[in-house]
Amino acid sequence: MNKLKPFPKNFLWGGATAANQIEGGFDADGKGLSSADMVAYVPKAERGAHSAAIEVTSQRIEAILSGEFQGRFPKRDGIDFYHKYKDDIALFAEMGFKMLRISIHWARIFPNGYDEQPNEAGLQYYEDMFKEMHKYGIEPMVTLCHYETPLGLTEKYNGWLGREVIGHFLRYVETVFSRYKELVKYWLTFNEINMITMHSPFTGGGVVIDRVPEAERENAKYQALHHQFVASALATKRLHEIIPGAQMGCMLARLTHYAYSADPADQRLAQWLNQQNLYFTDVHARGEYPKFMLRHWQENNVQIRKALGDDAILKQYPVDFVSFSYYMSLAASTHDNVERTGGNLLGGVKNPYLQASDWGWQIDPIGLRITLNDLYDRYQKPLFIVENGLGAYDQVEADGTIHDDYRIDYLRAHIQQMQEAISDGVDLRGYLSWGPIDLVSMSTSEMSKRYGFIYVDLDDDGNGSGERRRKDSFYWYKNVIASNGTEL
Ligand code: BG6
Repeated sequence: MNKLKPFPKNFLWGGATAANQIEGGFDADGKGLSSADMVAYVPKAERGAHSAAIEVTSQRIEAILSGEFQGRFPKRDGIDFYHKYKDDIALFAEMGFKMLRISIHWARIFPNGYDEQPNEAGLQYYEDMFKEMHKYGIEPMVTLCHYETPLGLTEKYNGWLGREVIGHFLRYVETVFSRYKELVKYWLTFNEINMITMHSPFTGGGVVIDRVPEAERENAKYQALHHQFVASALATKRLHEIIPGAQMGCMLARLTHYAYSADPADQRLAQWLNQQNLYFTDVHARGEYPKFMLRHWQENNVQIRKALGDDAILKQYPVDFVSFSYYMSLAASTHDNVERTGGNLLGGVKNPYLQASDWGWQIDPIGLRITLNDLYDRYQKPLFIVENGLGAYDQVEADGTIHDDYRIDYLRAHIQQMQEAISDGVDLRGYLSWGPIDLVSMSTSEMSKRYGFIYVDLDDDGNGSGERRRKDSFYWYKNVIASNGTEL
């Protein structure tokens, strides 16, 4: 008999966003520039259908700052949430959201990152926003750093490569913890912390890698990551001191790999790729670097500088919960005759049993159940899904309706597998669908890669009225929440 457990009564249904992908207002009210503001739009024809365009070179930054480079920067414009947040939050409330994940754009609070005093207008903006959420009973979850390192820190220290950035980060987090102590209970330190070593050190940590001598680049990524780990542990400590009862989570882009075949070499490769992905959460949740990573460093000549006491800090202040994004799974093969596909952070081998999105991301709902079980078995800590969803092209009909049944199918299948995992005994606290309102894509800066329940009338070239429309998935998700997942 297949007996499913219901979703817990207080299950936190909602959505997730990031400041640089929605706000706009990139220089409004004293905000400084950040890494996200340096990412220019590259049309698909130039970058390739399945590739990202996010890494920024030293030369590009200089050309932007001198005015010589004249590109378009969609992450500076977002969807104008900066001015429209009250209307947008009202739409989330209409869907019955229990939780909304946003990020604080660090450069709104400390414009250069290293400033002594915070920018009051920035602090007030988020205070108003959190109060607006509470008006509707929506609990905020706040990411402290979602690919938004202030550019001042890049220019002064080469981003997180400089140990000094830990101190500046702590000043920032102490400022926001103190200011929002009555308003925010759930926090995340770094979005997809694996970005910094696995894909783009600039996006993940404001590190311009071509400013580092070539032979030291691999080392530099791990060094910057180590600073983020220490900063995250110290932020957890400060959170518990400043807001008793508040909870800190880590955030991983979980890239579940399957072996392509039963060949033990493929199995071992998949295991290693999973270890390389999970060691980030190992450090956050268990408080130490796993031994397999120490071996990898030894064999690859990676030597990071730790300050006295770093290991104790990591051990003493682990996170309270583990959160992750899940969009797809990947296959791993040691053989040459296999097809490759796209994906967030890294592409992989094409799995013949799975369909993929128009961006080559392989759709795998059962993989979510596997992922939840794996993470819970490994850490025994509460879990949060803080990103999941389907990036797809939407069609607006003549009467203004948008029939996005493909999105509903994707979400339904994933929610069903969440319930399976809960029935397996996994302690899953919430589900935040990515981009509940269409937003600028992180990897491609497109608007046409839409995730939302709410359509935003803007195209890849920045044209459009910005008007919001409810898609079919809006009414579907509203009912999912109202029925606490019993009506899918
Ligand atoms: C995650 C990021 O990697 O995936 C988000 O945390 C991002 O910022 C999301 O938007 C979806 O990726 P994309 O490239 O489709 O926007």
